[in-house]
Amino acid sequence: MYIIKAIIFELLIINAYGELTIADIVLPKDPNTLFLEKLRNGEINFEKDIQLGLGFNLSEIFNIGEIFQNNNPTDYFQEKLKNGKLQLPPNFGLDIYKFLKNYGYPVETHWVQTEDGYVLRMHRVAGRNGTKGYMAKRDRPAVLFVHGLASSSFHWVVAGPNKSLALQLADQGFDVWLGNTRGNTWSRQHITLNPDIDHEAFWQFSYEQCGQYDLPAKIDYIIAKTGQQKIFYVGHSQGTSIFFAMAALRPEYNDKIALFTAFAPVVYLKHMSSPMYRFLVKYMDKVEVLIKNIYELMSYNWLSARIQGLLCLEEPFSQFCLMERFFLSGFDPYQVDQTQIALETAQSPNGISKNMLLHFGQNIRSGFFQRFDYGPELNQKLYQSSIPPNFTLSHVTVPTALYYAQNDLFVPVKAVEQLTKELPNVVKSKLISFKYFNHMDFVNAVDVNKLVNNDAISLIKTYVDNGGTTTPAPPPGNSPAAAIKFNYGCILMIILLALYS
Ligand SMILES: *[C@@H]1O[C@H](CO)[C@@H](O)[C@H](O)[C@H]1NC(C)=O
Ligand SMILES: *[C@@H]1O[C@H](CO)[C@@H](O)[C@H](O)[C@H]1NC(C)=O
Ligand SMILES: *[C@@H]1O[C@H](CO)[C@@H](O)[C@H](O)[C@H]1NC(C)=O
Ligand SMILES: *[C@@H]1O[C@H](CO)[C@@H](O)[C@H](O)[C@H]1NC(C)=O
Repeated sequence: MYIIKAIIFELLIINAYGELTIADIVLPKDPNTLFLEKLRNGEINFEKDIQLGLGFNLSEIFNIGEIFQNNNPTDYFQEKLKNGKLQLPPNFGLDIYKFLKNYGYPVETHWVQTEDGYVLRMHRVAGRNGTKGYMAKRDRPAVLFVHGLASSSFHWVVAGPNKSLALQLADQGFDVWLGNTRGNTWSRQHITLNPDIDHEAFWQFSYEQCGQYDLPAKIDYIIAKTGQQKIFYVGHSQGTSIFFAMAALRPEYNDKIALFTAFAPVVYLKHMSSPMYRFLVKYMDKVEVLIKNIYELMSYNWLSARIQGLLCLEEPFSQFCLMERFFLSGFDPYQVDQTQIALETAQSPNGISKNMLLHFGQNIRSGFFQRFDYGPELNQKLYQSSIPPNFTLSHVTVPTALYYAQNDLFVPVKAVEQLTKELPNVVKSKLISFKYFNHMDFVNAVDVNKLVNNDAISLIKTYVDNGGTTTPAPPPGNSPAAAIKFNYGCILMIILLALYS
């Protein structure tokens, strides 16, 4: 039962804590300087502040009590700071604007309004030699990237010019657009609703509405702006679920997309093995009651994010940071770049609605890719059926490329195999060849170019060469052998969960 308390506590605390900030409005002028100043003045208590950010006693769950007891992080980092030895890595804690500026990428902000009144921010990035004219040109193929759960546009660029798929495409002349789903740090706005006051109304959405309203608004905007007939779409995790939802509910949008590239497609979740989620689902009814009056979860907090990011950099504290990642997405110590995790952590999480979490929970429980379950009465009114209908995958006629990984705790191999069979126009279904590759490795694995990006770029270029209309012959399926492999991280987590529940 402990883990459940921990998760609920986490949700509650992050929520209460996160509500203090609306990232780009309340953010201090120079957060890193302020952060170091607080550290110098002893105003940061690592163990307590992380617990506040995470919501659970790390020492108990990850068994690293000894690390914290033998090395007090506050003393440790204060000492380093005093001796001038505390170096934050370049670009640490920078938001996407400053981060891209440092690398020489021009970035524009574009606002779009959805049919249901949400105001979303997209970041448009050009290549490093870009000029104004460079971006205004009409014939550069446009690519829309959409991030995963609790993430943001930043996650498509954190890997830097050499490894970020988005930045590599920008350097090669593509017109790159980075979306932000409703409610996240950059898209926390509505024409009439205030997210901090009209909690229930503003946060009444799951990934379904992001597909139904956000994506069409973004796609139409980009098409209007660029004059192109079709654009490319790249999604990671929830960024794929929302695309499948859109194409199923509004099939006319299939014709506006040249190619849909799906990294770690989250559709069928019956066999998902992320222990944290499985527990959440097991106790979902209790969780729902406990978070009844909470609507926004995991919003961005600049201080907590930096504290956690800093810990990712220094042994022995970095262990907790890595465990957190492995715990959620799969145990892969081989593809981890610790500096990357630190940069990413310092800009995470970015806020979700409660219903996003609950919707995935419902999908895990039923095993179907179904619409949001509001309960029999409201379902009847909305769907003319007491149980929610499935999203119609046969409507997803856009050319689709699926990339998935054997050690992905969220997306079971079996689920993608089933999806590959059911979708009408799969042009590629590729199991990543590295067996430990996990859910988050798609963003910034050490070998992400070799394992994912090079292949994705060459497929996209095939479609550019074909004017975005011709379907190349599907390559032979990359059929995985036995998928069950020993996963020590997972076993360790299960043991820990068994001990503490
Ligand atoms: C966390 O758990 C450890 C081990 O049970 C305990 O010693 C420590 O006091 C706890 N920390 C807090 C802040 O509760
Ligand atoms: C930018 O332009 C310079 C000079 O023309 C060239 O050498 C360099 O490779 C270009 N950089 C990129 C990222 O395209
Ligand atoms: C990218 O790769 C180039 C060439 O290998 C290297 O010189 C440069 O330092 C790398 N840049 C980053 C940010 O890693
Ligand atoms: C959704 O799909 C599953 C599997 O095909 C099926 O058993 C179930 O009845 C469907 N649900 C609805 C509401 O049609």
